[in-house]
Amino acid sequence: MKSRHPTTGKVTRSGAPAARPGSISRREVLQLAGGAATLAAIPTAPATAATTAEQATPAGTLRLVVNGEPRELTLDPRQSLLDVLRETLDLTGTKKGCNQGACGACTVLVNGRRVVSCLTLAAMHDGAEITTIEGLGKEGELHPLQAAFIEHEGMQCGFCTPGQIMSGAACIAEGHAGSPEEISFWMSGNICRCGAYPGIVAAVADAAART
Ligand code: FES
Ligand code: FES
Repeated sequence: MKSRHPTTGKVTRSGAPAARPGSISRREVLQLAGGAATLAAIPTAPATAATTAEQATPAGTLRLVVNGEPRELTLDPRQSLLDVLRETLDLTGTKKGCNQGACGACTVLVNGRRVVSCLTLAAMHDGAEITTIEGLGKEGELHPLQAAFIEHEGMQCGFCTPGQIMSGAACIAEGHAGSPEEISFWMSGNICRCGAYPGIVAAVADAAART
């Protein structure tokens, strides 16, 4: 039996958990990019009885709640969520690694679910709540998983770390942190070129045990 990985959408071998909502395939992204002109035209289309709040949004306007703060943005509907976060909102904690859904460095939470933000268009998330690494902890206080990463040395160069922590936080919230093996599987979409996996898994396991 085959299933898709939670963040990358890649097909995995038998025994793997089923696909989780919130991930998006490269094919879907290409289809959406090709339909960007259609997306842009939506707000100017004649109103119907089924008009929704999203359709009523002015052309090119996107409303997000980012790290608890409401934001209204005017943007190109072809922009990825990652580019909007980094380049429009200047939230550069979310990293751009491969920019094609393969490394997990760009992982953020969209309505509480982890998403590789390079593979999803920002325009698809009007009204969504986005959490990035900048918004995970409280003001002046690290999130328990951030503290655990430090304690267990779950990083070397640190480039993958924001994505690892966002993915790990979701992994814990999903109940997928019951064993090192389970953590390794559910975090397998997050690549660490430095090979800091033992510390990463230990940090997630420790934070899961504490919470
Ligand atoms: S998965 Fe998005 S930058 Fe690599
Ligand atoms: S700590 Fe360097 S890539 Fe993970």
